[in-house]
Amino acid sequence: MTLKRNIIITGGAGFIGSHVVRLFVNNYPEYHIINLDKLTYAGNLANLQDIENRPNYTFVKADICDYDKIRELLQHYHVDGIIHLAAESHVDRSIKDPFTFAHTNVMGTLTLLQAAKVYWESLPERYEGKRFYHISTDEVYGALQLTNPAGDKTGRGPYGDQFFTEESKYNPHSPYSASKAGSDHFVRAFHDTYGMPTIVTNCSNNYGPYQFPEKLIPLFINNIRHHKPLPVYGKGENVRDWLYVIDHARAIDVIFHRGRIAETYNIGGFNEWKNLDIIKVLIKTADRLLGHPEGYSSDLITYVTDRKGHDLRYAIDSTKLKNELGWEPSLQFEEGIEETVRWYLNNQAWMDNVTSGDYQNYYESMYKNR
Ligand code: NAD
Ligand code: DAU
Repeated sequence: MTLKRNIIITGGAGFIGSHVVRLFVNNYPEYHIINLDKLTYAGNLANLQDIENRPNYTFVKADICDYDKIRELLQHYHVDGIIHLAAESHVDRSIKDPFTFAHTNVMGTLTLLQAAKVYWESLPERYEGKRFYHISTDEVYGALQLTNPAGDKTGRGPYGDQFFTEESKYNPHSPYSASKAGSDHFVRAFHDTYGMPTIVTNCSNNYGPYQFPEKLIPLFINNIRHHKPLPVYGKGENVRDWLYVIDHARAIDVIFHRGRIAETYNIGGFNEWKNLDIIKVLIKTADRLLGHPEGYSSDLITYVTDRKGHDLRYAIDSTKLKNELGWEPSLQFEEGIEETVRWYLNNQAWMDNVTSGDYQNYYESMYKNR
């Protein structure tokens, strides 16, 4: 019998967070899962409609930067685990508004750490049985060289030999990745200074249902659906390592329960794609599912000014996670991307709700008076 636990998942109304909340609520009926989210533009409670009435689930609208509120919630719910996903997550927004990223990602994480420290240290058992698990990104490691732009090299990395490992040096380039790097350092500092039982994971690009349509994959699927231009930054040659979001949630489950304290684990799919190639797959798949002739949407590709400081290549080596905890991606990319395109096309109401802004009324109508 698994022990009862009270776990706060921050950012649970966002893309990855909603999959993590769903997985924990479904897989662990004996746990109480508290979804703590401020509901910024990226938070959408409709992502969790299917589980919102479960007895082991509670939603709390709160800001991770609000120390007193966090401290009160930790005590009220006797929280023994924190899985921290809340963040500002979009690189383009960070280039326009770096302050918000420093505030939420660095100060918000520090606020959570300090509140957890004060609460856990007030208990007789202190840190025993506790866990602070921080979700971070591969972008903190900077960018890798693209030594083989053709992408036809056989072996582990089609585009180059270098990979990000847990020992890779931090070298963030965007305000987003700099703010995530800052938050990672604070988490490790709380272990090293106070003995807090922390874990950090750094994951590659996620794709799948419920992603906000500012990110490449949902934005482009929606634009293909409406026959609107597909804005490719630069020449479309940047390489990303894509992982199905439910495989990330599975990794978080395994690491939360069996990962070693104070360790870092990299999470990735050994699945590198050049942007232009992934865009061609999206066009081909969406056109087929929409009943258009092959190549119908190809003329929507529009080359636009490159993102400032655009990292060339990311590729994660997740061997440590596989060897230590036996985690591997469960889904082949071809299968995952087909499911994803199908999901966005079949869930047009979800997409319309997000693009119209109506999703922001969900909390008022469904939760305010609970
Ligand atoms: P997202 O933008 O979809 O969701 C972020 C969530 O955090 C939203 O629900 C938002 O309302 C909430 N939030 C923002 N500021 C808050 C605050 N001050 N207080 C409480 N809640 C707040 O993000 P995502 O893509 O799901 O990413 C989740 C986490 O995973 C982030 O920490 C991100 O850095 C990390 N990550 C993302 C990816 C990816 O590909 N999306 C890959 C690796 C790591
Ligand atoms: O690597 C993990 C990171 O992946 C996460 O930490 C971030 O939170 C997440 O947003 C994601 O960052 P990216 O910048 O890689 O994702 P995005 O979807 O914004 O862009 C993917 C690639 O596509 C990138 O090379 C930029 C390019 N792009 C993006 C958009 C939105 C375009 O060419 N056109 C676009 O319109």
